[in-house]
Amino acid sequence: MPTIRALIFDLDGVITDTAEFHYLSWKQLADEEGLPFTRADNEALRGVSRRESLRRLLKGRPIDEDTAAAWMKRKNDYFLELLDRVTPADRLPGVTSLLEDARRTGLRLGIGSASKNVRPVLDKLGLSDAFDAIGDAHSEVVSKPAPDLFVWIAGRLDVYPTQTVIFEDAEAGIEAGRRGRFWTVGIGPATDGLAHLHYDSMAAITLADVLTKLAALG
Ligand code: BG6
Ligand code: MG
Repeated sequence: MPTIRALIFDLDGVITDTAEFHYLSWKQLADEEGLPFTRADNEALRGVSRRESLRRLLKGRPIDEDTAAAWMKRKNDYFLELLDRVTPADRLPGVTSLLEDARRTGLRLGIGSASKNVRPVLDKLGLSDAFDAIGDAHSEVVSKPAPDLFVWIAGRLDVYPTQTVIFEDAEAGIEAGRRGRFWTVGIGPATDGLAHLHYDSMAAITLADVLTKLAALG
């Protein structure tokens, strides 16, 4: 295994539990519009863009473009209302120490998210200056599960994918990482069996454990 030089983190569901906010916001819209939508349905929305999320939620029901735009805006308004209450205490357990250990070790740090809300979320968490590169839905690259976003971030961090570990809670994110030849760490049930390493939560992760286990994979 080459020396690891960088870590790239997904945001929603990895750095903080905004994955739950995305679910609650879609759920509110779905309930108001009489669309069947469950927590189990929501698993398929993890890690994919706002528009693709709406497409999956609609399950084939046709709507015109003006309605789609209005519904996506409404869902985002609900999300921003929930985001308003977020503070640095809402970093997921284990995140702060992992970022500090990585910094101390000299690793470069990036964010790779399908969201357009990355900067306000990082701001709320007190992490605006914690990353060397941020790739998000404004980065104008093909979204996950294509590897492009992560490759774009690796370029900005000046590292190769094989020197980089991706942390993801979504199937689409692990697929993107593997297709880009990154090392992948899956967090939570949606990524079990898909990534090089898997942990039940961020709280279960230490940098030393990840590096030791990746080294053992050769
Ligand atoms: C991803 C989330 O990070 O961003 C998805 O996992 C979300 O649930 C997507 O739909 C797009 O986010 P936003 O903030 O641009 O609507
Ligand atoms: Mg996620």
